[in-house]
Amino acid sequence: MPVTPPNLFQHAMDNSNDEFASPSDLAILLNAIGSSGKFISSEINRAALRDFFGSAGVANVTGDDQQKLDVIGDNVVAEALLTTGLVCAMSSEENAGMIDCGDAAVTGEYVVVFDPVDGSSNIDVAAPIGTIFGIYRRLSEGFPAGQVDVLRPGNEMLAAGYVLYGSSTIFAYTSGDGVHFFTLDPTLGDYLLTNENVRSHGSSLVYSANEGNSPKWHDADQSWVAHVKSEGYTGRYIGALVADFHRNLMKGGIYAYPGDKGNPSGKLRLLFECAPLAFIAEQAGGAATNGTARIRDLEPDQLHHRTPMYIGNSKEVKLLGKFHGS
Ligand code: F6P
Ligand code: MN
Repeated sequence: MPVTPPNLFQHAMDNSNDEFASPSDLAILLNAIGSSGKFISSEINRAALRDFFGSAGVANVTGDDQQKLDVIGDNVVAEALLTTGLVCAMSSEENAGMIDCGDAAVTGEYVVVFDPVDGSSNIDVAAPIGTIFGIYRRLSEGFPAGQVDVLRPGNEMLAAGYVLYGSSTIFAYTSGDGVHFFTLDPTLGDYLLTNENVRSHGSSLVYSANEGNSPKWHDADQSWVAHVKSEGYTGRYIGALVADFHRNLMKGGIYAYPGDKGNPSGKLRLLFECAPLAFIAEQAGGAATNGTARIRDLEPDQLHHRTPMYIGNSKEVKLLGKFHGS
């Protein structure tokens, strides 16, 4: 009989480090996010049957049309993390301010930032979406924990990851010692290790960008895209950051969401999307920049801080940087 691979909890127990208050904390936190991922995955699969398609009828704090599953996903992830009792501060893409952590705001040791349902406009067409998260150790010692614990660069993250809801559900994480993938076995209801120490695929002449915006892009980005096209690159764009990122991690390429003349900071959120994926990219041997600076070194000045981002294969990110003068 084949040996069953380790599950997420077992693997995370072996991947803690001294920066965690207790060796089991990483496993408990990842397990909570993984459980909410199982729930979201099952809700997505049945979305049409349960009238969960479509808009919740409001825009979120950064102006995106909030989908019903954005709201459900946000509550599910927050609730799962709250039940651990380990989280003193949380902030998500769907909330203008910080999420109330109750008594754990005093006692919790960790801060979690997340995008519960990334790429939510894909829900109604049964295309891939994801959940993105990053975990910091608490900074403040005064109580309760506050924005000072959240507004931090990605280089201070202890762990980060995502759940991809595609043709299978994949949980990816790093705690600073490589990137590991787990696949949800729907029969067992468990995430089982499928790729350990994932490496970013070598350069493979693929770019992922919403090129419909290119007339508004700055000259550097227009020159870059003209260059890659002249070199015979192929375009691939799923329209959900997690899915595009994961695809390029496995198959090679670069994802770009530049700033443009109307939106100089682009669209993506530094805390909830860019910094966690940048941590994963670097741990897999890839890179992530805003054109001139490393994403993980950027200091957020507000919870919903946006930044341009170029992420993926390190050679491709370096090439992009040349067009930005870096
Ligand atoms: O969360 C932002 C997001 O949905 C990303 O997942 C995705 O890559 C991007 O927006 C798509 O934006 P656009 O529709 O402008 O291409
Ligand atoms: Mn998103």
